[in-house]
Amino acid sequence: DDVSSLPSRPPVVTIMGHVDHGKTTLLDWLRKSSVASQEYGGITQHIGAFVVQMSMGKRITFLDTPGHAAFLSMRQRGANITDIVVLVVAADDSVMPQTLEALKHATSAKVPIIVAINKVDKEDARIDQVKADLARHGVEIEDYGGDVQVVCVSGKTGQGMPDLEESIITLSEVLDVRAEADGMAEGWIVESSVKQNGKAATVLVKRGTLRPGDFIVAGKTWARVRALRNEAGTELLEAAPGSPVEVWGWRELPDAGEQVLQAPDEGKAKTAVQYRLEMAERERNSVQLA
Ligand code: GTP
Ligand code: NA
Ligand code: MG
Repeated sequence: DDVSSLPSRPPVVTIMGHVDHGKTTLLDWLRKSSVASQEYGGITQHIGAFVVQMSMGKRITFLDTPGHAAFLSMRQRGANITDIVVLVVAADDSVMPQTLEALKHATSAKVPIIVAINKVDKEDARIDQVKADLARHGVEIEDYGGDVQVVCVSGKTGQGMPDLEESIITLSEVLDVRAEADGMAEGWIVESSVKQNGKAATVLVKRGTLRPGDFIVAGKTWARVRALRNEAGTELLEAAPGSPVEVWGWRELPDAGEQVLQAPDEGKAKTAVQYRLEMAERERNSVQLA
């Protein structure tokens, strides 16, 4: 395939790291709203996905992930659907279990990382200690002659944030991500919920273009796309690769992490779901027999 002839898409950047190291606060700064303070107890329950128009005009899709131990599968998915991982490490806490786990996912998915040492405004910040700890765990940071960029930031004061933006944009440009925009849409469910007007799921489109009226299958459910909405709630006529979009029209609510595949028509969508349900049933029966 001649990938270079394909259209560019926004790169997908996933923010990962140990619980409370400041992932949502940093994202918040990047999109200049106040999501961190609205979350119950400051805990990220879901992956949030949104596009940020960076100061240099570039569009980047960000995914937030929770650091809590219970959300392992979300971090696994996050690492798999991303182009870049920003690994957030709090300067007062250094490398912790979910830092190492995020690192492991990024490495196994062969995703480049940028380290953001956060909370450098704190009195007990130990930047050199964090760098030494990262190096000890095999991160080839530039201070030690490697090529992993380390940026010191504070999500509280905003210190270093332009440097983090620049690092993300520079690495994105090097990666030059592109995707087929024609043909059947493919993507991933990044979050889903039952809302007042029905079932909604945020789909991150990886290739192809999704439009109202399309049939899609995700796990053991399907949808005839009734509406596509962006983060601001505006209805869209299409969602191109690299864009997160809220999809309405699901039969049942799909789970976060399921792959989304467009089907040519309603019959094929139903048949695909029926087949998956039968397979699950067979698996249950064989487990009972064993
Ligand atoms: P989980 O999603 O629960 O894993 O947490 P998180 O990594 O998203 O951390 P969050 O952004 O919720 O921040 C955790 C706490 O650290 C909050 O009380 C923030 O206000 C605080 N915090 C975040 N960044 C900074 C920073 O740069 N400096 C200081 N002093 N506090 C910060
Ligand atoms: Na938190
Ligand atoms: Mg968070």
